[in-house]
Amino acid sequence: MIDTGIVTLTLIKMQKANSIHDTFLRPLKDLRISVIDRCNFRCTYCMPDKEDSRHYSFLKSNDWLTFEEVIRLTKVFVGLGVTKIRLTGGEPLLRPNLVELVGKLRAIEGVKDLALTTNGSLLSRYAPDLKDAGLDRITVSLDTMDARLFHQMNGNKGDLKKVLEGIHICEELDFPLIKINVVLQKGVNDHSVMDLVRYFKGRKPVLRFIEYMDVGNCNHWDLRYVVPTRELVDLINGHFPLRPLAAKEFGEVAARYEFADGSGEIGFISSVTQPFCGTCTRGRISAEGRMYACLFAGDGVDLRAPLRAGAADVELSALIQNVWQKRTDRYSELRTKIRSSPEHAHKVEMFQIGG
Ligand code: GTP
Ligand code: 5AD
Ligand code: SF4
Ligand code: SF4
Repeated sequence: MIDTGIVTLTLIKMQKANSIHDTFLRPLKDLRISVIDRCNFRCTYCMPDKEDSRHYSFLKSNDWLTFEEVIRLTKVFVGLGVTKIRLTGGEPLLRPNLVELVGKLRAIEGVKDLALTTNGSLLSRYAPDLKDAGLDRITVSLDTMDARLFHQMNGNKGDLKKVLEGIHICEELDFPLIKINVVLQKGVNDHSVMDLVRYFKGRKPVLRFIEYMDVGNCNHWDLRYVVPTRELVDLINGHFPLRPLAAKEFGEVAARYEFADGSGEIGFISSVTQPFCGTCTRGRISAEGRMYACLFAGDGVDLRAPLRAGAADVELSALIQNVWQKRTDRYSELRTKIRSSPEHAHKVEMFQIGG
């Protein structure tokens, strides 16, 4: 449940003249932009190989928002209080000339933080140019240190060595923050936890373990496959004592801990056992320009049609405000109830809005 007392007070303190708020007083602060729905991996929890064609046909390149359209929408979102931008996919590095888009987004006044989530397969090729173009932060998905399991989990596409090489190059380039996202599934990769911890402990990239979620419609999610954060913290703490850290900013998704021996930080994203909808400040747009108010939303609101029909910035702004101000979403808090209801409907796929 949302703790309305504390959350409301914090939110009211945060309100600034140019922020907009939803029905739970949550401000719109982050924009996650999916630049492509395709991916060169087929992770079993996101885009299982055999199922994707049955459920979904990928967008054509002329369906994608152009860079000009992305920039225009971003400026409108910034005008409504957004300060953090994250580029996602599918795999965003498959979008031709992505580095150029990064440079253009970096130049927008008001964008305080520009990040990218990638599977890391093309990182060694693009990391230096991304850094030069002004990207602030990189998040790499990496679920195991076992090369065979890694290959299996991504649908026999990706090579662990290549991803580790990409991460290493980011470390050498001195990106201020590199995060490693690990999605854990019980009985699949939960035996990899301590290998990952030992590999990254004392190094710059920060590991974050994510509870497996029922995003999309094709991953056959079940609560039995979720490794609760509590268990994980106990496990890691048994090997390397941990101390909880205070949140750095409002709306942080990860509960952060530090190793008591001073060898860095580790995070846990408990979207199933400890949902964080109460502080969710994230808006999302798909590669074709639909705006989603939640990772588990059904349908998005089309921003591309008005853009292409010549809408003025104020009209686009009004459209976005309308979506956000009517927002009631808190799927993770209502998961059990929603999943058991007969109307439990079709959801957007993770590869369409990128997490
Ligand atoms: P920044 O605020 O940009 O630093 O984000 P972050 O790096 O802390 O989180 P990131 O975007 O990497 O998200 C990590 C993972 O948490 C995602 O891949 C999702 O699995 C999950 N996640 C992120 N945002 C949400 C959200 O709004 N709702 C839910 N349920 N899960 C989320
Ligand atoms: N549950 C939790 N996280 C997921 N991701 C993709 N699918 C899921 C899921 N079902 C994560 C990926 C990546 C980010 C885009 O979302 O590992 O880090
Ligand atoms: Fe895997 Fe990310 Fe590609 Fe989905 S979009 S298949 S999670 S690499
Ligand atoms: Fe935000 Fe929806 Fe995730 Fe809740 S489930 S934190 S509302 S995106």
